[in-house]
Amino acid sequence: MPTTQEIPATSPIGRDTRRVDGPQKVSGKAQYTSDFHFPGLLYAVPVEATIAAGRVVKLDTAAAEKMPGVRAIFHRESIGKIFRSIQGAGFEGICEERRPPFEDDVVRYYGQYIALAVADTFEAAKAAADAVQVTYAKDKLNVETDLKADEDPDQVVTTFGVRHRVDSQRGDADAAFATAPVKLDQTYVTPAETHNPIELHATTAIWDGPMLTLYESSQGVVNLQGVLAQMFGLPKENVRVITKFVGSGFGGKLFPWTQCPLAAAAARQLGKPVKLVVSRKMMFQTVGHRPRTQQRVRLGATAEGKLVSLQHDYVYQRSMLDAHHEDCGEATPFQYSVPNLRVTFGRAKRNVGAGADMRGPGRVPGLYATESAMNELADQLKIDPVQLHIINEPKIDESLGIPFSSRHLLECFELGAEKFGWSKRTPGVGSMKRDGLTLGWGMAGCSWVAARFPAAANVQLRDDGTARVACATQDIGTGTYTILAQLTSERIGVPLEKVEAVLGDTSLPEGPLSGGSMATGSVVPAVFAAADNAIASLLTVATTTPGSPFERRKPDELAFEGGRVFVKADGSANGLPFADLLRRANLRLVTGSGKSEATFGNPKPKFSTHSFGCHFVEITWQPEIARLRVSRVVTVIDAGRILNPLTGRNQIEGAVVMGIGMALFEHTSYDPQSGAPINSNLADYVMAVNADAPPIGVYFLDFPDKEINELGARGIGEIGLAGIAAAITAAVHHATGVRVRELPVKIEDLLA
Ligand code: MOS
Repeated sequence: MPTTQEIPATSPIGRDTRRVDGPQKVSGKAQYTSDFHFPGLLYAVPVEATIAAGRVVKLDTAAAEKMPGVRAIFHRESIGKIFRSIQGAGFEGICEERRPPFEDDVVRYYGQYIALAVADTFEAAKAAADAVQVTYAKDKLNVETDLKADEDPDQVVTTFGVRHRVDSQRGDADAAFATAPVKLDQTYVTPAETHNPIELHATTAIWDGPMLTLYESSQGVVNLQGVLAQMFGLPKENVRVITKFVGSGFGGKLFPWTQCPLAAAAARQLGKPVKLVVSRKMMFQTVGHRPRTQQRVRLGATAEGKLVSLQHDYVYQRSMLDAHHEDCGEATPFQYSVPNLRVTFGRAKRNVGAGADMRGPGRVPGLYATESAMNELADQLKIDPVQLHIINEPKIDESLGIPFSSRHLLECFELGAEKFGWSKRTPGVGSMKRDGLTLGWGMAGCSWVAARFPAAANVQLRDDGTARVACATQDIGTGTYTILAQLTSERIGVPLEKVEAVLGDTSLPEGPLSGGSMATGSVVPAVFAAADNAIASLLTVATTTPGSPFERRKPDELAFEGGRVFVKADGSANGLPFADLLRRANLRLVTGSGKSEATFGNPKPKFSTHSFGCHFVEITWQPEIARLRVSRVVTVIDAGRILNPLTGRNQIEGAVVMGIGMALFEHTSYDPQSGAPINSNLADYVMAVNADAPPIGVYFLDFPDKEINELGARGIGEIGLAGIAAAITAAVHHATGVRVRELPVKIEDLLA
């Protein structure tokens, strides 16, 4: 089985490559959104509703307006027109909270923005926001955690299109379950989780006549440009969005939130640049969260462990107006071989802010449920869980009846089990000990979609021997600057340090969202096409420039390799570096543009394209002091070709650490009295940190997937978080005998 990649000696592809933007970040030169300053800059602080349901009856802004340094207190009557936006064809106009801020006086969730204080300093704006007196008419709020599906039609409109509530179906799941020799019927709960990137959401808005520039912390500048153009009634080209560095997003920054139009509207009213940085508390209220889910899984199997029926019925929490779809059943129909299957979903409205994609949306809570059920079934059958997965490994995507482009999950299990030492596992609860500690071993499989968004790029070759690659995508800390530079270096044949990568600006060719783990896969063909077109321009220059050694040649007699133009018949040793050629022609540069189409959302795919993987987890348990630690993790990922194993391993390690947080710590609690996310700070919302991170072994298989792009690279941003919580809870059961089906695992759960 190939686990190391064959790398041509000169190629930067597939080599451990440090982030090209690393020095800027560690030296403090990298400018994040809230670092930008402009003459006359004003600061905005929103007034947050302190009820979760009801109506604003009166806003008394008189005292706040008279405070020193205050420029304005904006509200529904004074902010000026902000239009709604709609979703377009393809990947345009996506927005999780569709209602423009201040559109009506109704309060639908705690922390909803109801006014905006703008002042000369942040402190003055904050003091003024606090001084606004609000009178409410309260309604009864609903933040009930038990989720029963609301009455909804069979088909519902969601942020990702119209979805049938029977999401996938084959055979007769009910009948097969009824007669199955072995049955499992359990419900798994995942809590609301909040994205907590260290960089807060932020907007700085500047108007220059009819032109609006937004410095924004965004995972999708092109989409944000389209939404804001609609909200301000502008042609798209009048809006420019700039995002040079993002202090991560985890999906929370994929689509615009209401602070962005508020900052733009305030800047318009005052004729000055306005900066609005969301507070950590607001991060829990107004910029999305992973919705709470309640998922019933029913498995029917033979005594030998072959699945005969799988039912996955899930309900998720949604906000009052919005329709974020938490697609928990996304992987269920093809993850396992089973003839009878049904996946359905329901939604339960609550007085909470809009839900949003959070790293591995849908599949991460979904695979937690189905993989937990598989682990429980294995225990019930007294079969090793790896063996149960092997027994139920499908040969094709049984939901679509098409082959997988590349699925090597069994090889993942094999390598993971070997690296972890799984064969030494004894199945009895509490049967494994080391150094006086009880050990628990658990495992789970995972998957994540692989596809491409549309992408465009341009590549320039310059007379100093450098190249520049430009694409309006973003680097959210994952290494996109580096990937763009690697791809250009590979195709042009110049060393990495001679490539300038430029991104995060809508004035560049339209690039993909940094989302869905699709940025890398999407930019490969666009950058290669752009580089090839730049080379083609260069060859034309070579054959048309007076005095060029290639002057009377035809372009197709020439070749370009390693940064040199040469006559094919003569070989590259007699070539001329492109910089020399450009200088002879008195050209600073030649530019090539390239683009590639989306494969994501293709209604009639020939192949089912996904990445796969698995986790093996060890926990230690000390019942005397109720101490639980994740002590060791081995993760194997089959994500096609890995373009940069160094940043790739970083991604998986980060996801595993986040998965430890998901399993053991993270949950957003809504106060039943006020509806407030009550643990809205980094002290009370506990996340896994470095000190919680055990040794993590990350292994990549190397099966390039040419369905995705010519390098065979799929994405790796999200898959590492899928399945890990199920592996951890299985390990917890193995050590303690306690089956926790509601995340996170709490100490109370383990005290017998
Ligand atoms: Mo990811 S939730 O698509 O940023």
